[in-house]
Amino acid sequence: MHKNIQEILLSEEQIRNRIRELGVELLRDYGDKNPVFICILKGAVVFYADMIRAFDAHCEMEFMQISSYQGTQSTGSVMILQDVKQDLAGRHVVILEDILDTGRSLQAVCKYLEAKGVASLKICAFLDKPEGRAPGITLEADYVGFPIPNAFVVGYGLDYDEAYRNLPYLGILKPEAYAK
Ligand code: IMP
Ligand code: MG
Repeated sequence: MHKNIQEILLSEEQIRNRIRELGVELLRDYGDKNPVFICILKGAVVFYADMIRAFDAHCEMEFMQISSYQGTQSTGSVMILQDVKQDLAGRHVVILEDILDTGRSLQAVCKYLEAKGVASLKICAFLDKPEGRAPGITLEADYVGFPIPNAFVVGYGLDYDEAYRNLPYLGILKPEAYAK
C-alpha cells in the first residue's frame, strides 16, 4: 500500500468484480445500439479503459475534458476544454465519469450534450457520493459502480493535486498527505 494511504476503500478485486457486473448491465441495455461512450478526462480514464473492455459489443469512444468555473458562486456552467470529435445527433450516449459529487459538472455536461440532439443520454459513474449533491441538483447517475461516504478518495483515476491517479485501488489519504 502507498505510504500516504490510510485505508483502502475498494480493492482491485472489488473493482474488477463490480466492473464485470456493470458491463453486463450495459450490454443488456446497449448491446444492439452501438453506443458512444464518453470518457470525462482525466479522472474517468482508468474506469473507462476497464469499462469498455467489459462491454462485449460494438461501441465507439469519445473524450471530453471539462473544467469547472472557479468562483464564489457556482452557476453550474463548465468550460469545455476538449469536445467530442464526432456528430452525436441520433446516437445513444453514455457518459463515463469518475465520481458524482455535487453533480454540477455533470449537469452542465448533460445539458450541453442534449443540445447536440442525442437519441438518449445516460450517466455511468464509478463512484457516487449521494450526500455531496449541491442544492437544486436533481441529477442522478443511471449506473453506479459504488456509492461511497462523503470522504475524499484517490486512486483508480482520482487525484489529489494530480497525484495518486495511478493507484490500482481506491483509497483514503492520510491527513498529513494533504499538507504541502
Ligand atoms: P461535481 O459532481 O461537479 O462536484 O464534480 C465531481 C468532480 O470532482 C469529479 O469528477 C472529481 O474530479 C472531483 N471529485 C469529487 N470528489 C472527489 C474525491 O473524493 N476525490 C477526487 N476527486 C473528487
Ligand atoms: Mg478531478
